[in-house]
Amino acid sequence: MTTTLITGANKGLGFETARRLVAAGHTVYLGSRDAERGRRAAEQLGARLLVLDVTDDASVSAALKAVEADGGLDVLVNNAGIEGRTPDGGVVGAAEVTAESMRPLFETNVLGVVRVTHAFLPLLRRSAAPVVVNVSSGLASLARVTAEGTPSYAYPGVAYPASKAALNMVTVQYAKAFPDIRINAVEPGYTATDLNMRTGTQTVEQGAEIIVRMAQIGPDGPTGGFFDVEGRLPW
Ligand SMILES: NC(=O)c1ccc[n+]([C@@H]2O[C@H](COP(=O)([O-])OP(=O)(O)OC[C@H]3O[C@@H](n4cnc5c(N)ncnc54)[C@H](OP(=O)(O)O)[C@@H]3O)[C@@H](O)[C@H]2O)c1
Repeated sequence: MTTTLITGANKGLGFETARRLVAAGHTVYLGSRDAERGRRAAEQLGARLLVLDVTDDASVSAALKAVEADGGLDVLVNNAGIEGRTPDGGVVGAAEVTAESMRPLFETNVLGVVRVTHAFLPLLRRSAAPVVVNVSSGLASLARVTAEGTPSYAYPGVAYPASKAALNMVTVQYAKAFPDIRINAVEPGYTATDLNMRTGTQTVEQGAEIIVRMAQIGPDGPTGGFFDVEGRLPW
């Protein structure tokens, strides 16, 4: 059994991943940037609350100290993410996107993952079978987004796919640098959560499947790849 940290696990895919890993007997740190939302979620699941805002250095250092004092970490699931829709649910396309409107997405979806991974690397490297799962998106795939006639081609947003494509590159470079750690990116599929105002066509149970699976791979599992529930995806 492993000790797993899931960022942004107070709801959505992170919460469902935590539920499944707790049910499988793993020790789970449920990451939440809001202490109260996190406390309620952790109590519901029998997980350990870890207050953690991925955009905040002090928050990440405090979380690291708490996990270190409790014994260490085997699996890190970088799940916290934002899509950056407008208040009425619109996706910001190329005509409207600005550098400033892209910044929060890169802060959370890319720099947040680097901040948390960098902080927890020493603990992961002490584990006998360390694993990192980066929750990416099919919209990160250049092959998919340029395949005419597909839903990925039709998605007009700029910031979200760009941030997840950057996350995929971060995944590959970390995987090459740390061959003893299994580090992969996953695409949950279009899932009904607050991220997309519940427009997703899958349930969280379906969406979390690939995250749960990759969080439990052993030392013989793949590394440096991009997967959905059906297998390897094109970059
Ligand atoms: N839903 C989909 O169709 C879909 C498809 C592909 C990939 N994904 C990816 O799946 C992951 C989970 O998304 P979801 O669909 O489950 O969305 P969600 O229900 O909106 O959950 C997102 C989680 O991230 C947390 N979060 C946001 N910013 C954070 C920060 N700075 N620090 C810590 N936590 C933060 C949120 O916390 P608060 O509650 O405090 O806001 C929430 O717990 C994301 O990386 C997303 O890009 C989703």
